[in-house]
Amino acid sequence: MVRYCKLAVGILLIMGPVLERMGAESPDPKSPAGECMTCHKEKSPGLYRQWFSSSHARHGVTCIDCHAASQEDPDAYQHFDAWISTLVTPKDCSACHEREFREVAGSHHARAGQILKSADAYLAHVTAGHPAAIQGCESCHGAPLKIDPDAPNKLSPLTWPNSGIGRINPDGSEGSCNACHPRHTFAIAQARQPESCSKCHLGPDHPQKEVYEESKHGNTYYTHLAKMNLDSFKWVVGEDYFAAPTCATCHMSATATQTVSHDVGNRLTWNLRPPLSTRQKDWQTKGSRMKDVCSACHGSTFVTGHYHQYDASVRLYNEKFAKPATELMTLIRSKNLLKSPAEFGNTVEWVYWELWHHEGRRARHGASMMGPDYTWWHGFYDIAQHFYFKLIPEARKLNDPDVNTWIDTLLKDDPMHRWLNQPAADLKAAIQSGELQTIYSDLFKAE
Ligand code: HEC
Ligand code: HEC
Ligand code: HEC
Ligand code: HEC
Ligand code: HEC
Ligand code: HEC
Ligand code: HEC
Ligand code: HEC
Repeated sequence: MVRYCKLAVGILLIMGPVLERMGAESPDPKSPAGECMTCHKEKSPGLYRQWFSSSHARHGVTCIDCHAASQEDPDAYQHFDAWISTLVTPKDCSACHEREFREVAGSHHARAGQILKSADAYLAHVTAGHPAAIQGCESCHGAPLKIDPDAPNKLSPLTWPNSGIGRINPDGSEGSCNACHPRHTFAIAQARQPESCSKCHLGPDHPQKEVYEESKHGNTYYTHLAKMNLDSFKWVVGEDYFAAPTCATCHMSATATQTVSHDVGNRLTWNLRPPLSTRQKDWQTKGSRMKDVCSACHGSTFVTGHYHQYDASVRLYNEKFAKPATELMTLIRSKNLLKSPAEFGNTVEWVYWELWHHEGRRARHGASMMGPDYTWWHGFYDIAQHFYFKLIPEARKLNDPDVNTWIDTLLKDDPMHRWLNQPAADLKAAIQSGELQTIYSDLFKAE
C-alpha cells in the first residue's frame, strides 16, 4: 500500500494540476466509490468541499478509501450499496501511512485513553460526575468507543463524537489521527500550527499553549506567520522556514538530520507530569535530538545554558517542595489522621494535589519552554505560598505530635526552609553577599 501511495505521488507530480482542474471526481460516478461523492456533494456540501480541497482528493483518495469496512467489523453497517464504518481509525489510515501509524502507536499519546484508574479520574467521577468526564477528560484523552446496544453496529452516543488522542477503537487500534489532522481537509499546515496542539495542551495543569504564547518563540511566530511556509510538503527547520519554531518544530518536525517523528516523546529528557519529576528512559539521546532542533537557530553555548537552568529548576521543585510535601502526606496517611475516609474528602488532600498537579506542573512547564511568567508567578510563587501557608497550616490543624515534630525539624534543619525562623535583615544581607544563593548550587550539578 505504501508503494501504491508513492506511485500515486509520482503520478500526481505529472497529473496533479490536471486532476485538480478536473476535480478528482475521476471514479465512475456509478461505481459505489463515485456515488459517495455525487450524493454527498448535495447532502453535505461543506463536508464535500473540505474533502475536495484536500491533498487526498488531489491524489484520488476518495470517501470509500477511508470509510470502507468489512461486513464483520463491529462498527460496519450497510449504507446504500456499500459496507462502511463512520470511524476511520489509525489502523485504517495505516493502509497508506504505515510509518506514522507505527510511531503514534509507540507514543504516550496512544496510551492517553487509559486514565480510568488515575487519581484524576477518581476526582472527576467522585467529586463531579459522569457527563463531566465524557465531555471533559475523554474529549482530550479518548476512551473506549462502544457500539450502541439499541442500534446494531452504530456507535454509542455515550462515547462518540470523540477525537481524543488515545481513543480506544473497536478494531483495537489506539488514538485518533484527526486529533491533530482535522477532517476532511487533513491539511498539513494546520497540524504544524500551535493551535493544533492547544485544544488539549493548555489550562491550569499543563499550560503549554500559554507558555508558548508568552515566550519569544510564540511572539516571533505570530509576528512572522506569513513567512512560516506552513503549506510546503517538505518543512525542514532552517531550510524551508527560519523565523520561529512551533510546537511541531521542536517535538515532531524534521531537521537537516532528523526525519519527522510522530512519537512526541522522542526528544524529552524529563517527565514533568508526576508529583516527583523523573528522567525519561534514554534521556541523553532524546535530549540530543531536541538540541539538534535548537541548533538550526541558536549556538550550542546558548542551548546548553538553557538546559543548565531548566534542569536546576526541575531539581529545585523536586528537592525543596515535592519530596517534603509527599513525605508529609505519607506520614499523615500512614497515621490515619484524616477525618473523611474518602480520598479528596479532606482539605489537605486538595492542597497537596494542586501543589504538584497544578502549580507544580506550571512551574516545570514554564521553565522547560522559556515562559518566565509561568515559571514564577503561576509557578514557583504559587508553590511557595501554598507550601508554607496552606499545606503546613492544614497539617498542623491535625494536632498530631509526630506531624508537628516533622514540620519543626524541616523548618529548623533544612537550609532551604530555615528562612522562616530568620530575621529579614539577615536574609537580605545574605542575598546581597551571594551567600543565600550558594544553598542552591548543588541543583546545578549535572547527573
Ligand atoms: C444517495 C445518497 C448517498 C450515497 C450514495 C452515500 N451517502 Fe453517505 N450519507 C448520505 C446521507 C443523506 C447521510 C446522512 C444521514 C444522516 O444525517 O443521518 C449519510 C451519512 C454518511 C455517513 C455518516 C453516518 C453516521 O452514522 O454518522 C458516512 C460516514 C457516509 N455517509 C459515508 C458515505 C460513503 C463512504 C459513501 C459511498 C460508499 C456514501 N456515504 C454514499 C447520503 C449518501
Ligand atoms: C483520508 C480519509 C478520509 C476520507 C478520504 C474521507 N473521510 Fe470521512 N471521515 C474521516 C475521519 C478520520 C472521520 C472521523 C471519524 C473518526 O472519528 O474516526 C470521518 C468522518 C466522517 C463522517 C461523520 C462525521 C461527521 O462529521 O458527521 C462523515 C459523514 C464522513 N466522514 C463522510 C465522508 C465523505 C462523504 C467522504 C468523501 C467526500 C469522506 N468522508 C472522505 C476520514 C475520511
Ligand atoms: C488510500 C490511501 C490513503 C488513506 C487510507 C489515507 N491517506 Fe493520507 N494521504 C494519501 C496520499 C496519497 C497523500 C498525498 C501524498 C503523501 O502524503 O504521501 C496523503 C496525504 C496525507 C497528509 C498530508 C496532507 C497535506 O496537506 O499535504 C495527511 C496529514 C494525511 N494524508 C493524513 C491521513 C489520515 C489521518 C488518514 C486516515 C484518517 C489518511 N491520511 C488516510 C493516501 C491515503
Ligand atoms: C483540555 C484537555 C484535557 C482535559 C480536559 C483533561 N486532560 Fe488529562 N492531560 C491532558 C494533557 C495535554 C496531559 C499531558 C500534559 C503534559 O504532558 O504536560 C494530561 C495528563 C494527564 C494525566 C497524566 C498522565 C501521565 O502519563 O502522567 C492523567 C492521569 C490525566 N491527564 C487524566 C485526566 C483525567 C481523568 C481528566 C478529567 C478529570 C483529564 N485528564 C482532563 C489533557 C487533558
Ligand atoms: C500530535 C499530533 C499528530 C497526530 C496525533 C498525528 N499527526 Fe500526522 N502530522 C502531525 C504534524 C505536526 C505533521 C507535520 C510534520 C512536518 O512536516 O512538520 C504531520 C504530518 C503527517 C503526514 C505527512 C507526512 C509526514 O510524515 O510528514 C502524514 C501522512 C500524517 N501526518 C499522517 C498521520 C496519521 C496517519 C496519524 C495517525 C496514525 C497522524 N498523522 C497522527 C501531527 C500529528
Ligand atoms: C486531543 C488532545 C491532544 C492533542 C491535540 C495533542 N496532545 Fe499531546 N498529549 C495529550 C495527552 C492527553 C497527553 C498525556 C498522555 C499520557 O501521558 O497519558 C499528551 C502528551 C504529550 C507529550 C508528552 C509525551 C511523553 O512521551 O511524555 C508531548 C511532548 C505532547 N503531548 C506534545 C504534543 C504536540 C506537539 C501536539 C501538537 C502537534 C499535541 N501534543 C497534541 C493530548 C493531546
Ligand atoms: C523551542 C522549542 C519548543 C517549542 C516551540 C515547544 N516546546 Fe514543548 N518542550 C520543549 C522542551 C525543551 C521541553 C522539555 C524537554 C525535556 O524535558 O528535556 C518541552 C516539554 C514539553 C512537554 C512535556 C511536558 C511533561 O509534562 O513532561 C509537552 C507536553 C510539550 N512540551 C508540549 C508543547 C506544546 C503543546 C507546544 C506548543 C504550544 C510546545 N511544547 C512548544 C521545547 C519546545
Ligand atoms: C526556528 C528558529 C528557532 C528554533 C528552532 C529555536 N529557537 Fe529559540 N529563539 C528563536 C528566536 C527568533 C528567539 C528570539 C531571539 C531574541 O531574543 O533576539 C529565540 C529565543 C530563545 C531564548 C531566549 C528567550 C528570552 O526570553 O530571551 C531561549 C532561551 C531559546 N530561544 C532557547 C531555545 C531552545 C532551547 C531551542 C530548542 C529546544 C530553541 N530555542 C529553538 C528562534 C528559534
